[in-house]
Amino acid sequence: MAKDRRVYVCRECGAQFVSWAGQCAQCDGWATIEEASVAAPRGSAADIPNVEPLSQFDVAGAVPIPTGLDEVDRVLGGGLVPSSVSLLGGEPGIGKSTLSLQMAMSVAAAGSSVLVITGEEAPTQVAARAGRLGSIPDELSVVDTTDVDTVVAAITAAKPQLAVIDSIQTLEAAGVDSAAGSVTQVRAAAHRLVEVAKRTGTSVVLIGHVTKDGNLAGPRLLEHVVDTVLSFTGDRHHDLRFLRAIKHRFGSTNEVGVFEMLPAGLAAVDDPSSRFLADRRPGVAGSVVVPTLDQRRPVLVEVQALASAHGDRPVSLTANGVSSPRLKLVAAVVQERGGIALWGNEIFASAAGGAEVTEPGGDLALALAIATAATGVGLAADVVACGEIGLSGEVRSVAQLDRRLQESHRMGFRRAVVPRSATAGPTGLELIRVDTLADALGQLHNLRSMSGPKAA
Ligand code: TYD
Ligand code: MG
Repeated sequence: MAKDRRVYVCRECGAQFVSWAGQCAQCDGWATIEEASVAAPRGSAADIPNVEPLSQFDVAGAVPIPTGLDEVDRVLGGGLVPSSVSLLGGEPGIGKSTLSLQMAMSVAAAGSSVLVITGEEAPTQVAARAGRLGSIPDELSVVDTTDVDTVVAAITAAKPQLAVIDSIQTLEAAGVDSAAGSVTQVRAAAHRLVEVAKRTGTSVVLIGHVTKDGNLAGPRLLEHVVDTVLSFTGDRHHDLRFLRAIKHRFGSTNEVGVFEMLPAGLAAVDDPSSRFLADRRPGVAGSVVVPTLDQRRPVLVEVQALASAHGDRPVSLTANGVSSPRLKLVAAVVQERGGIALWGNEIFASAAGGAEVTEPGGDLALALAIATAATGVGLAADVVACGEIGLSGEVRSVAQLDRRLQESHRMGFRRAVVPRSATAGPTGLELIRVDTLADALGQLHNLRSMSGPKAA
């Protein structure tokens, strides 16, 4: 009979190696490689499995049950599916415990039993937090443990509709000779929890901490094991938080849930566009609004640029909330194809209010922001711009333009600079179709602000 095999696994990216190394050859992480064991195959005398017609399976079991938090249900395509395991990943302090406790309280308030397994905080801390979030439902119970066997026993006995485990990194499986949070422990714990979820019909939500660069530390390995991977992100200097599905076995990964962290917990933000445009000063040179897409949800964001003369030196670029590679490309195209000299300037580009514009649909707005920052002529308050820019200066089509234009119209914009290929927009939104960036720059005299500063 074959022996269990020793392998070395990177806790950041999950890459496997036959020998230990100080640095992972795949993700370049230092001191991330740990020893793990892989069970040997169980010989050839396996039982003959049941081979069953697919059509005879009851699919009703995969019907999601609403959590009652609309933004969560939007991302999950209705709610949590019984017997499923979801991983909720995010940086420490972003609000994972808060969000999952709000889910737990909402599900319990609707009359279903919920278990919160707390390995990180004491039950009194959980109770204090729950008390700040609302009234604590009777159906909500807590188990204070880091032992996987205890967790499995608790879920098996109580068969709750929802079990929240905070966090997967604190769990330890007896008999696994490795520290909590290690690859071997996290994987062993997750497999046990998947098994108990299937057996009891409980929806299990696992909380997992991710590192700064977005890797699910340890739980990265779990992406294959769980049904759903949710990512909770936000800029710590702002109150907005975003929930996105990275993987979802029961539905699309196209939605985003938007929340605001308030003293009494996370509140849904129904209208992110209004939030991002709240403090805008229309007409200022270097400010252009873009209907960007977050997953499939159109959101209006103000892209800003500032050109600051710094002597007879090459252009330098600083990006904040916009992608650095796209800023580089767009600035080069503004100069080479748009004919606007940027030499001797330090260009700062950002997405206002903690938003992020990393998709190519933001290129045209970024280019117009840089161009207007350099020339000092602002755009009128009622203009948005959207399009991808290519190296020859062409303005290319973008995904879901119709939905972006609908959102622009809803937010009161009246004119949109768009690629030539754009079909009709909503009534009341005039489309200014352009082939190239030079073409768009040629239209600036029609689009300029009458109130903002004029060109020198
Ligand atoms: P937490 O959910 O503990 O984050 P995580 O579990 O991801 O580490 O929340 C982190 C921050 O949220 C904490 O610094 C305090 C803040 N917070 C609020 O602003 N309002 C609230 O109602 C709660 C519960 C937390
Ligand atoms: Mg926490």
